[in-house]
This record gives sequence, C-alpha cells and structure tokens, in this order.
Amino acid sequence: MRTVQGPIGFVGAGALTDALAGGLLAAGVPPERMWVCNRGHADRLERFRQVGLRATPSKADVADAADLLVLAVKPADAAAALDELRPSLRPRHRIVSCMAGISTAYVEAALGGQPRVVRAMPNIASAVRASATAISPGRYADGADIDAASALLQAVGEVVRVDEPLLDAVTALAGSGPAYVYCLVDAMVAAASDLGLPEPVAMQLALRTVAGAARLALETERRPADLRAAVSSPGGTTVAGVGVLEAGGFAALVAAALRRAAERSEELGRQWVQPPPG
Ligand SMILES: NC(=O)c1ccc[n+]([C@@H]2O[C@H](COP(=O)([O-])OP(=O)(O)OC[C@H]3O[C@@H](n4cnc5c(N)ncnc54)[C@H](OP(=O)(O)O)[C@@H]3O)[C@@H](O)[C@H]2O)c1
Repeated sequence: MRTVQGPIGFVGAGALTDALAGGLLAAGVPPERMWVCNRGHADRLERFRQVGLRATPSKADVADAADLLVLAVKPADAAAALDELRPSLRPRHRIVSCMAGISTAYVEAALGGQPRVVRAMPNIASAVRASATAISPGRYADGADIDAASALLQAVGEVVRVDEPLLDAVTALAGSGPAYVYCLVDAMVAAASDLGLPEPVAMQLALRTVAGAARLALETERRPADLRAAVSSPGGTTVAGVGVLEAGGFAALVAAALRRAAERSEELGRQWVQPPPG
C-alpha cells in the first residue's frame, strides 16, 4: 500500500468526509494534515476540530493549505462548490471528486484550465477502513495523480479502477450497497425477534453472520455460489430457507434495486450537470 502524502483538504463536511477522515485518522494520517470546510453547519466543523483537523468555513484556506482536494458535497451543490473553489485552484492541486453522478468532464469544465481530476466512489465503510472503492481518472490526470488518489483511498479500503461510464454501476453496487446490507440485517433481526430471540442477541448474530460470510468468501476466494452449496444439505434448513428467498424473487428484487440506483446516479449527473434552460 502506498502512503498518503501531503496535506489533504475536504470540501464538504458531511457523512462521507466524516467516514474518510475517520478512516485516514485510523490509518495514521496526522489530523493536522487534514483540512475541512463546509457551507453552513458550524457544528460539523467543530466536530472535526475536536479530533484535531483544521476546520474553516473558507475554501480558499483549505485550497491554500492542501495539495489534494477531496470534493464531497451533494451533486445538487456541485456547481456552486466548484464555482467557489475555482479562484483558489492552483496547478499543484490534485482533485478527488466523490460526488455521485458528476462526471470528470463536468468538474474539469467547471474548474477551468486543465485540472487533474480523479473521480472516486468510496463507501461509508471508509470510516473503518473497509470501503469498496472504484476510481476513474479524468483526461488531465496522469499516473502520479492516479497513484495519489489510490493511496488516499487505499488507506480506507480496497480500490479498483474502472472506466468512468461504469461508475454509475459502482455507485449502485458499492456506494449504495451498505444500505442494502442494513435492510437485510434489519429484516433478519425482525424475523429472528419474532422467532423469540432477544433483539440485541439477534442483532449481534445477524451482523456477525454477514461479516463472517463476506470474510470467508474473501479469504478463501471461493465463489459465493460454491460456499452456498457447501452449507446446503439436501432436505436441510438452509435449502428450506433459500427456497423461500428464490420463490419470492430475491435475485430479481436485488437486480431491480441496483438498476434503479444506477439510473438514479445517471439522473443526478444529467440533472445537475446541465444547467436548467433559461
Ligand atoms: N455518504 C456516502 O456513503 C457516500 C458514498 C460515496 C459518495 N458519496 C458522495 O459524496 C458526496 C457527499 O455525500 P454526503 O453523504 O457526505 O453528504 P452530506 O452528509 O449531505 O454532506 C455534504 C456536505 O457538503 C456541504 N456543502 C454543500 N454545499 C457546499 C459548498 N458549496 N461548499 C462547501 N460545502 C458545501 C454541506 O454543508 P451544509 O449541510 O452546511 O449545506 C454538507 O456538510 C455526495 O455527492 C455523495 O454522492 C457519499
């Protein structure tokens, strides 16, 4: 794993910055090397300040201090944030844009010149250094820029490189994915409580089951279908339970969820990338 070099500036002090900064702190990046700014919400900046980050309402201060700028505002706020950042941007800056649906071409055009942009889709598990992240470079980003973005994101999880058009699919799978898993866990816990398990016990078991199943597949590199077959004795409980999932259209429902999330990512890009007519 490469080391994260230089000062880092976050534009936007919301959930993603919280997760990334938390993961970077856990990875040993000194808090005083991280700067963060926000539009409003002074309380959020204060929270970052309390753990030693440099927090300021000013994008210019963050840009002056940082070499690597992480864009973490909602797509709807992208145009304003980029406009405000533009005067402070210098050739030394590297940009890691995490805004769902916002293309590198849009960020490049909004910032002007030839900004070195790498688009990234990390997830909320960055906070515990377990993000599943994909990156895609813009047209002015060179190998060193990709390395710098990778180093940042590898400090908080695993990173794969994909072609930019695939980032909508990545958003649907890995960006929104933690929420699907939480839906599954909540449903399992509710059902187990109905079966008589105390809720805290059911929650512990459900979360450990999800984490253990994922870890087993990752560490053994066996395909989930093979692992599933290995725990499915004919006439046993797993076959009975999985049979209900299949009969209820589980795979089709998951496919529909990912399709809709990917469409939504595209819609967000279209909605906010094109200025409204007039
Ligand atoms: N959360 C995730 O798991 C996740 C994962 C991957 C990617 N992303 C992407 O990351 C971005 C941020 O998501 P989030 O969940 O962190 O959103 P969030 O919690 O709403 O945080 C966004 C922050 O940006 C600030 N902001 C808005 N306009 C600004 C501006 N012009 N200048 C400076 N700060 C500004 C907001 O401040 P105010 O509240 O004061 O307006 C808010 O604190 C989104 O584009 C999302 O698609 C999120």
